[in-house]
Parts: sequence; C-alpha cells; structure tokens
Amino acid sequence: MGTLARTSRILASASLAAAVLASVGAGAAPAEPGARAPGGPRFTAGADGAGDPYFPRAGNGGYDVSHYDLDIDYEPPTATVPPTPLAQIRGRLDGVATIDLVARQDLDRFNLDLRGMTVSALTINGKRATGIAPPADGAEVEGAAYWHVQDAAARQWELTVQPRPKLKAGQSARVVVTYGGETTRPTDIEGALYGWVTTRDGAMVVGEPEGSMTWYPVSDHPRDKATYSFEITVPAGKTAVANGLPDGDPVTAGGRTTWSWEAPDQQASYLTTASVGDFVQRPVTMSASGVPILDFVDSKIAGNALAATNASLALQPRMIDFFESRFGAYPFNSFGSIVDNDSVGYALETQTRPVYSSSAGQGTVAHELAHQWLGNAVSPDEWRHIWLNEGWATYAAWMWTEENGGTTAQQAFANWYAPARTPAYWALPIADPGALGLFATQVYNRGAGTLHALRTKVGDEVFFAATREWLRRYDDSTGTTDDFIAVFEEESGQDLSAFFHTWLFAPEKPTSW
Ligand code: ARG
Ligand code: ZN
Repeated sequence: MGTLARTSRILASASLAAAVLASVGAGAAPAEPGARAPGGPRFTAGADGAGDPYFPRAGNGGYDVSHYDLDIDYEPPTATVPPTPLAQIRGRLDGVATIDLVARQDLDRFNLDLRGMTVSALTINGKRATGIAPPADGAEVEGAAYWHVQDAAARQWELTVQPRPKLKAGQSARVVVTYGGETTRPTDIEGALYGWVTTRDGAMVVGEPEGSMTWYPVSDHPRDKATYSFEITVPAGKTAVANGLPDGDPVTAGGRTTWSWEAPDQQASYLTTASVGDFVQRPVTMSASGVPILDFVDSKIAGNALAATNASLALQPRMIDFFESRFGAYPFNSFGSIVDNDSVGYALETQTRPVYSSSAGQGTVAHELAHQWLGNAVSPDEWRHIWLNEGWATYAAWMWTEENGGTTAQQAFANWYAPARTPAYWALPIADPGALGLFATQVYNRGAGTLHALRTKVGDEVFFAATREWLRRYDDSTGTTDDFIAVFEEESGQDLSAFFHTWLFAPEKPTSW
C-alpha cells in the first residue's frame, strides 16, 4: 500500500470513529435479532466471558467496544539501596479509561475485565454510577451502579456495570472508568510474566493472551477489536511508547511528560502496549512502500546485545518489502520496535510496535513483523487457533532466512522434520493445544511444518493466492482454523480435510499427506 492509500485508510477509520462518537447517546439503532429468549426478561446481563473455553472469563458478552481512550499516569518504582528484589518492586498507575461501546443485546448489566486495580469512579453516558459491594446472585440493585469481583484463585476479575437507564440493543454508550493502584509483575496461567510488568526503570507491557486487564478495564478477548488512543504521563526523562503513531510531540510540564499515541486500526486487546523506560528513539526509517518505522531502544543496552539489535533493526525496511511481496500491503500505519534491557523472557508482536526482551534478534524481528499480517490484522477467533499465529510467524521467519541468503524454507522444514522426537511431542494437536499449550514449541514448529507441507501440496501460486485471500477476507477481524481450511480448499479446488487432519490433529508424526 502506498502512502496515499495508507493515508486514506487512516482517514477512513478516523471518520468511522467519528461517526461512532457522534452516535454516542443518540439513542437506539435496530435491535439484533435473537438476543433474548421468548418469554424471558427483555433486559438481561451480558455474559462475563467471550465464550472462549481456554479463558472462560476473558472478554465479555452483550456489547462490542469501538474505541478505548486511555489516559494513564505512571510512576515507576523508586530506586533503593540495596535494590528491592524484582518480585517486590512496585510502580503506581492512575488511569482514566474512556470506553465507547455498542450494546448487542438489551442490557441490564455488562462486564469489563480489570485485574489488580481499584475503581474510584465510573460514569456511563455522563451519569455517575455508585460503587457497591458485589450483590448476592440474582439480587436487584437500585440505580446506576458498579461492583468489582477480584478472585485471583479463580482467575476471576470482573467489573460489572449496571447502566441506568438500561441499554437497548444497538445503542452506543460511553463508559468512563477512573481507577488506579500499585503495579506489580503479573503472571499468566503458565506463570509467565505478562500485562503491566513493572521494571526498575518503567514497565514492559505485553498482554497475550488476557493480560491487558492488568492495566485498563477491557473486554479482554481478540474477538472484540477496537481502535485506541493513549496519553501516558511519566516522569520527565522517561519515554512512553504505545501502538500506532505519536499524536503530536511529548509535552512536559511540572517535571512530567505526556506522550500521546493514536492507533486508528482495529486492534485486539492483547496487542496493546504502553511501555515505559529509558528509551531513546532512533531516526525514523521507511519501507519502500512508505511504512514509517519508529524504533525505541533502552539506553542501557550495550555490547553484543546492542550490536545484534542494531543489525536486526536495520533490516526492518527490507523485511517489510519482502513480506509485502508475499502477503500484500502492510496492514497498519507504522511499524517499529521497543527494545527493553529488561526481560519478560520473550518478545511480543504488539500491534505496529513489537516489544523485545534484552535484545532483538534477526529471526525474532522477522517473526514479530510477520505477525502484523498473520495474527494482528487477522487474529484468532478463539485461543485454540493460536497455530495460525505462531505457525505462520515461524514459517515467515523461515522464508525471510531464505530470502536473506540463509537456509531455505525447504531445508528448515527438513531440519525440523528429520530428527527423532518423543511420542509426547507428536501427540499434541496443535489446532487445539489447550490453554497451557498455547506457546508449546509444537505450535510454532509443527505449525510452520504444516504450512510448508501445504505449500508443497498446493503449489506456490495457490499457496500465496490463498494466503492473500485469507488476509483480505478476515482483515481487521478474526478467523478460525476451519475458515482457513475453507479458503485453501476454495483456492486449490482440493478437498484438504485429510491433509489438515494429519497435520493439525493426528496425535503422531505426519508421514504421508
Ligand atoms: N506471541 C509471542 C511470540 O510468538 C510469544 C508470547 C509468549 N508468551 C508467553 N506467555 N510465553 O512472539
Ligand atoms: Zn509469535
């Protein structure tokens, strides 16, 4: 996509956002059919989850968010001598989240996800709601109200909002949540750091799969994509980097600097970031097609880590050119990297601006860039479809290595396929790996192997045509493994059910396909 096309796309999403904003409080649009059981109460509670069996309470039902405006004030930990152990460091976050949403059913109540923060005020369509203790199940509550259940043992973090008047299906609403708290180093279901991870010099913010609820009230599931704007205020001298492009220069007053960012494309919640640190911005570079690349590298990175990072970042324009030649136009308004000297133990493909731990290796940068198409523009509709993210990004990095004069994709496939592995390795069905198997090595490598085998089965022409069709059809949205199979069957004219069964589900090493 050229700069002109990109600009008109930004304008298109901006005017869409404007239309949504203009309709806030404008009353009801036509109701969605089938939202209530015949004879049941007309206004009901939205579900407390998006319906994903891996993370039953992530996301919410009954509405769609169109935009999050996040106004965040952050105080990183104070340095002490001797230093506080990492596990005990704390920052302080104070936020005002303005959430524009559209009701999808007649709503008596609805939920947001929010973990480890305390809500101090909440309005809905300008009307103040009263904070109350969670009422008993089924109990009536008078008037506009909110309550917050936080049960870490049950991994249940639900902020319930009771709007008054009630919301009709199709109606837009603006919810403003004022909240805050001490920030910690939250962990996911596997024990990996994620969410708003407090670091000594700021925060590394990486939310996959449902860690964004640790820093703002959110419907924390990829199915409910939205646009974002950010105003992040930090001590002067610190840099705050979020998704998209800066909205003007940072503004410093009274020893604090506010960094504003706009992310005008549809974005899954796990892909938001607002990382804070001693970052230094590099000169902006550009892909041949005009994608601006904004890189932020921690000033404390040195030596080999810095040399490796610099070498990888310098390749980003060429990597974009290459992936555009295979996948089609880069899907967002910008790209670039956040390289922190701190570590969460992995990198994340946060939309437009991946976050790297300690340094950015070339293969990892290619992987996170490929996710912008495969994972971000088109996201998994449920977490079981994670192989569509990780298999693809792994395969794309194989393709980049070949393009850059290294091992061919065919050789990378052979290197993975040939060695003997345990029955347990082959037993994992990568298209339904379980919540604890999301980031299993099989999801990455057997996923990449699946795509290479598919490419050899249907041929290069069909393989890349189908990939582009997949990206076109589900752009700004989500898709499933079945959707993916359907596109490849359509484009190839072949019945691929046995092929995909062998590669994605059969609990053994694929030997013929
Ligand atoms: N999606 C990330 C990547 O492939 C990996 C995230 C790993 N997360 C985790 N909790 N282990 O680059
Ligand atoms: Zn990945």
